[in-house]
Amino acid sequence: MCGIVAYIGDKNPLPIIIEGLQRLEYRGYDSAGIFLSNKSENSTTKVAAKVEDLKLEIEKKPNFKATVGMGHTRWATHGVPNQENAHPHLSNSGDLFIVHNGIIENYDVLKKELIKREYTFYSETDSEVLINLIEETQKQEQVKLGKAVQIALNQVVGAYGIVVFDRKKPDELVVARLGSPLAIGLGKDSFYVGSDATPFLEYTRDVVYLEDSEIAILKKGKPIKVRNISDDIEVDPYIEKLKWNLENIQKGGYDHFMLKEIFEQPQAISNALRGRLLMSENQIQISSLTEHENKFLNARRILIIACGTSWHAGLVGEYLFESFLRVPVEVEYASEFRYRNPIIFPDDVVIPISQSGETADTLAAIKIAKEKGAFIFGICNVVGSSISRETHGGVYTHAGPEIGVASTKAFTTQITVLSLMALKLGELKGVIGKVKFHDYLTELSQVPDKIECFLKNTNNIREIATHYHKSPNCLYLGRGYNFPVALEGALKLKEISYIHAEGYPAAEMKHGPIALIDENMPVVVIATKKGHYDKIVSNIQEIKSRKGKIIAIVTQGDTTVKQLADHVIEIPESSECFSPLFSTLPLQLFSYHIALMRGCNVDQPRNLAKSVTVE
Ligand code: F6R
Repeated sequence: MCGIVAYIGDKNPLPIIIEGLQRLEYRGYDSAGIFLSNKSENSTTKVAAKVEDLKLEIEKKPNFKATVGMGHTRWATHGVPNQENAHPHLSNSGDLFIVHNGIIENYDVLKKELIKREYTFYSETDSEVLINLIEETQKQEQVKLGKAVQIALNQVVGAYGIVVFDRKKPDELVVARLGSPLAIGLGKDSFYVGSDATPFLEYTRDVVYLEDSEIAILKKGKPIKVRNISDDIEVDPYIEKLKWNLENIQKGGYDHFMLKEIFEQPQAISNALRGRLLMSENQIQISSLTEHENKFLNARRILIIACGTSWHAGLVGEYLFESFLRVPVEVEYASEFRYRNPIIFPDDVVIPISQSGETADTLAAIKIAKEKGAFIFGICNVVGSSISRETHGGVYTHAGPEIGVASTKAFTTQITVLSLMALKLGELKGVIGKVKFHDYLTELSQVPDKIECFLKNTNNIREIATHYHKSPNCLYLGRGYNFPVALEGALKLKEISYIHAEGYPAAEMKHGPIALIDENMPVVVIATKKGHYDKIVSNIQEIKSRKGKIIAIVTQGDTTVKQLADHVIEIPESSECFSPLFSTLPLQLFSYHIALMRGCNVDQPRNLAKSVTVE
């Protein structure tokens, strides 16, 4: 996690870094700091607060024209979020500065060694250890900064994305990565660095995404130089053209990114379908899937690995693949999978799912599955992300940048892509007949319009939220394809409103959660027409008999549940397999309104970060 921004060139680095940090606050927002320098002056400002407060703090200081700078927004790993632990960190000589994203796992051993050499530490961070290790290496080896960074990093165990600056070399920045992303924007005689490319979208379209184990020397007015850290070979950097623009990462008139992203779902799903669902040809075309279709058709098993919301999408994938491909599917938390010495067969297909493409546990799980010989086919949103590079093939969801920490459009586009894959493979395998296939395609093509229509009239969801924003608990129930949606609904409420919420398969209610139900317990039940409607109606009766408050998500025109529930939210009619694309929407909005009514920070909930690049 943590966000890094740096700049070297002729522009004023201050606004570039502050604006850039604000765009990266989704990565962490415990504390923030900035370092600015020119050939004669330096200034460091740090706050145990957000970037907005950092900006106010800087405004109190005297102005000077800097030519280089680096900034950091932190998600604490080593040491509490306070001013001392905020970045940038300084070496003992006062010459070297670092911003760091990641964790140095052997920092304790390195720190003890440095203490023996009379280094003093002013923070609890592993990053301060790293900058002093670089300083000590420079002293011992009498080498240039880049080389010293390289030698020091070869002693480090862990993950890092770093920017290092030496006051004695004011025209140069050294950046390096292992496991934590870094994008380098190439300007005219200048360089921009970011944990992703959003900080420099308006300045350049040319970007180099540093690969793991690479170090880059950014010298003002000179071309970028990249080397591999461990084998010390010069690398020819691949320059990509940025596709996202500034509009994609602004609120566009909405109060919050989360709300904007909820309302972007029709467009996001259209983008996920574009060029893949070909109605006129009655076909689904995903070139990377076609390239590897035999792997899927001959698979003994599909393993889906992911975390959080992406794991919930994976559960929907399990229902889709088992129905349409008739292949057994297991859905694994990446963090459990990687530490379990998992059994993987050579004819397994592993599908990692990740919005950011940077989640550390998912990335590590992929590496393990790869080592064991599995074929890896990823589903990612962020183009060029670490996970997308680590896979043998894959599909992008094309949801566009998701900035609200609570995932919304990423989830529905992941389900869209999983649906396309399952339908295509089901058709190839002959499990889905021609007529049914055509019906499914028609239905899928109508999803964006139906969602658009649903989102036009959602005032009732806000009204329902007014009854429950003070509840301490909430239960979510669903069956079949909507069981993962119940989990996702509960997660959304927990993370942005801090209300304790549990998602359960509705039938499991009788095996424990029913004990929680009384007149104070709101129970959100997904009770759409197709699927296990009668069973879920019985579950609703059971809740009602125990006086629970029922908020039911029903299919348009439903009358039965309406008579039983305290509140109903109608969603468009669909086949059961596509119902998560609709049933998720009211749950996203319900959480959003409740969080607002509780005065919570919807886009940046406490303790969370969008991109979990630590284990
Ligand atoms: C929840 C949420 C997280 C992420 C999880 C995985 O709203 O956003 O649970 O889904 O951290 O992240 P990705 O998909 O980037 O791997």
